[in-house]
Amino acid sequence: MQISFTGIELPSAGAVAFFVAKDKPFAGQAAEADSATGGALSKAREVSRFTGAKGQSLEIVAPHGLSVDRVLLLGLGDKDSFSECDCLELGAAVVAQLQMSGSENVAVIADNAGLDAALLAEGVRLRSYRFDKYRTKETEAKKPSLKSVALATSDATAAGRFIERASVAEGVFLTRDLVSEPANILYPESFAAEIKKLSALGVEVEVLGEAEMAKLGMGSLLGVGQGSEKESQLVVMRWNGAGQDDQPIAFIGKGVTFDTGGISLKPGEGMEQMKWDMGGAGTVVGLMKALAGRKAKANVVAVVGLVENMPSGNAQRPGDVVTSMSGQTIEVLNTDAEGRLVLADALWYCQDRFKPKFMIDLATLTGAIIISLGHEHAGLFSDSDELAERLFKAGQVTGDKVWRMPLHENYDKQINCATADMKNIGGRPAGSITAAQFLKRFTNDVPWAHLDIAGTVWSDKDLPLSEKGGTGFGVRLLDRLVADHYEG
Ligand code: BES
Ligand code: MN
Ligand code: ZN
Repeated sequence: MQISFTGIELPSAGAVAFFVAKDKPFAGQAAEADSATGGALSKAREVSRFTGAKGQSLEIVAPHGLSVDRVLLLGLGDKDSFSECDCLELGAAVVAQLQMSGSENVAVIADNAGLDAALLAEGVRLRSYRFDKYRTKETEAKKPSLKSVALATSDATAAGRFIERASVAEGVFLTRDLVSEPANILYPESFAAEIKKLSALGVEVEVLGEAEMAKLGMGSLLGVGQGSEKESQLVVMRWNGAGQDDQPIAFIGKGVTFDTGGISLKPGEGMEQMKWDMGGAGTVVGLMKALAGRKAKANVVAVVGLVENMPSGNAQRPGDVVTSMSGQTIEVLNTDAEGRLVLADALWYCQDRFKPKFMIDLATLTGAIIISLGHEHAGLFSDSDELAERLFKAGQVTGDKVWRMPLHENYDKQINCATADMKNIGGRPAGSITAAQFLKRFTNDVPWAHLDIAGTVWSDKDLPLSEKGGTGFGVRLLDRLVADHYEG
């Protein structure tokens, strides 16, 4: 999508979009357009149910008196100040409404008080993403018609602020690309190769294969990948945007490129969804692209554990006992609770090598978090109130919402075990919490937060800022966390 900025003026062709306050008469350019049509826009409002309520839209095609293809009215609701998220969603709504309309250009008239044209443009950009590389036979008529969006604003700073944020959207798009790729294309080694491309932005990338991980004693991660023909990988990324002695912050991602469940095989129905079980790693990689792209003034390390969980003659069995890099032993009672096994070694390795200020891991860890929070919030678990509070606030601002869940040692009973130091399942009650308690045993008391993003990585329906498919959840959240608290 081509996005540009112009002064406030009505376009002579293409479409035009106006924002309309609830139950208020047209104002500014919209009022002028209304009189140019002899009141046709007002009439359209009267005869429809469009009041200007939030989320409403009304399209008026080829109105007499104007040379444009169509007029789009979008409801602002009854607020007169708009949050960052409101602006993003309003911009995105223009794309959602007009993408398939037949119009190729639209001028978005941003002359309403309180609307930030840079954020409207950012919403346009985020909502324009499509993963269509495998649709080789899509006819022109089924492809989006909309090619360019012009933001009409009197704010001279908008274009510059929009351009400065380009790398954040690029990070989101990389994450969406990665979670959308099928598992025959994106497997541990090809994923690692994609990550290596970040070195063009100045990210240092190191890839550890199975032999190196075996030397480090990563029996927990390696056990998960052992049934696969694909070699497991651990990828370390480093972005050094601050002083040399600045202690880094760390992000860790679960990268199960396909989760069949292993010998504890998942049911066939819906199993294809497990191609996005690498969403935690995908988010961490997108975040690194965003941070490096905008040259964030922070030292950041990222570690992703990339494995494929397959059943085979060489696969790990229920009842196997593995020894993690930390030295702690784990009885693997269910080979489908594999994400925590991957993270156990990735977390331990990260704190052992980098001594970070804190660690935040992201993982599509449990189906249970979807039962708890649905698809609206990711689960947040943390032993640091400060970190939890900062994540919560960043979630409210960006719209990547997180909701704090409890940690408590009493849940440890559920994962304690007679055979080994712990078992990898805690039973049905509090399934997401026992998974988090498990991870906590591998943080070595470094301040830590865990985001269970199983419900937010992918959407089966269109969302305000993304089409059905990969959402890119977490990239803008964590970029904001870093920008607000850990730079300069
Ligand atoms: N990748 C899944 C979790 C998941 C489920 C993500 C549905 C997205 C949608 C994870 O590896 C898993 O299989 N978890 C099990 C844990 C159980 C065996 C303790 C689960 O949630 O059922
Ligand atoms: Mn699983
Ligand atoms: Zn999984």
